[in-house]
Amino acid sequence: CTVLVDGRRINSCLTLAVMHDGQSVTTIEGLALDDNLHPMQAAFVEHDGFQCGYCTSGQICSAIGMLAESREGMPSYVTDDLTQPAAELTDAEIRERMSGNICRCAAYPNIVAAIKQTAGLPT
Ligand code: FES
Repeated sequence: CTVLVDGRRINSCLTLAVMHDGQSVTTIEGLALDDNLHPMQAAFVEHDGFQCGYCTSGQICSAIGMLAESREGMPSYVTDDLTQPAAELTDAEIRERMSGNICRCAAYPNIVAAIKQTAGLPT
C-alpha cells in the first residue's frame, strides 16, 4: 500500500518502519482533519473513484503525493525533455504518474476525474 513519508509516496510493503525513524508517516487514516475528509478523499467519493475499495487507500495517498511531485516540477517517466518544466497534468500524464497503483476493478476513469478535481483542473 502507498503511504506518504515526509510527503513523498512510498510502498509501505517495501520498507521498514525503523528506516523512517524521525520522519512523518501519513497513512490514509491520517489524511482527514477531524470529521472533514481530505479534498482527495472527498473527490474520490464524489466521482465514485472506487468499486471494491481494495486499492483505494493507496490510490488516494499516491494521488496526493503525485500532485505534490507535479507541483514541484518533478518529471514523470515519459517526460521527453528534462530541461523543460514538468508536463501539464493531462489525463495521460496523470495515468502515467499513477501507473504504479493498480485497480483490479478498473475504476481508472473515475480516479483520474477525482485527481483532476483535487488539482483544480476541469473534469
Ligand atoms: Fe477494487 Fe480498485 S476499487 S481494486
